[in-house]
Amino acid sequence: MNEIIEAIKRSAIRIKEAIEFDDTGYSENINSTGDTQLKLDIKSDLIIEEEFKKVVCIKEIVSEEKETKTPLHAEGIYGVGYDPLDGSSLIDVNLSVGSIFGIYEGGYAGSNLKVAVYVVYGPRVELVIAQDSVKLYRLNKKDEFVYIQDIVLKEKGKLNAPGSTQMCWEPKHKAMIDAIFADGYRLRYSGGMVPDLHQILLKGGGLFSYPATSDVPKGKLRMIFEVFPFAFVYEKAGGEAIDGHNRILNLNPSHPHDTTPCFFGSHAEIERVRKCYE
Ligand code: F6P
Repeated sequence: MNEIIEAIKRSAIRIKEAIEFDDTGYSENINSTGDTQLKLDIKSDLIIEEEFKKVVCIKEIVSEEKETKTPLHAEGIYGVGYDPLDGSSLIDVNLSVGSIFGIYEGGYAGSNLKVAVYVVYGPRVELVIAQDSVKLYRLNKKDEFVYIQDIVLKEKGKLNAPGSTQMCWEPKHKAMIDAIFADGYRLRYSGGMVPDLHQILLKGGGLFSYPATSDVPKGKLRMIFEVFPFAFVYEKAGGEAIDGHNRILNLNPSHPHDTTPCFFGSHAEIERVRKCYE
């Protein structure tokens, strides 16, 4: 496991450099979700694949940027699902983006997730590793990730990050979001899943939601690369993650790119979601 985490750290340092200095333009490729890939999406994906190829305990990888799984080492035991550069369309306006990794053993069901890791490329580069607890590290001048603190969510937070667009929300979802704002919660939504969820974690709590909407009835965010890893992080930090009804980590995708509605937060906010969706 440690070798996988070391490979993620090497990838993060290389991706950070690419974000800082490479061309931020689009390529001519379209990925399996139908998004036109940025040159940086492709490069980040290649960097991670290169680093993971050096790690013999990885059996296969499945990337948000590829349609199918890529076998790596026959004798390996782990499958790694990853989104190499989530929120990459925010790079041209110089907002924060991230990489997300889920390390699975025995298939890509939420219950098979062993470790979740994400990297935030912001004014500083931060790495969060969720195992038994959730630990925050920050990149220093010597390209080392230095431990900063454990991340623990409070019982109730103050931030609200509502995904998608209001015209596509169900009326009950809109009523819930309005009620949360009416209770004094602050809007914090950049459109990048990694920095938005990171902010809620570090500021003690709140709600991030990406519901079922009229344009994407099964939600937008992908289980294996985005939703399961963050569900794992939130639970290990003392919060919760549900799809409106079920615990996210009890879900089992039938295709690598399957999506789900998702709600991440501290206990008080997730309880509100349960009441709204029950
Ligand atoms: O996965 C893509 C992504 O950019 C996430 O990082 C982000 O949370 C979401 O899409 C934003 O979607 P929307 O603009 O529909 O709220």
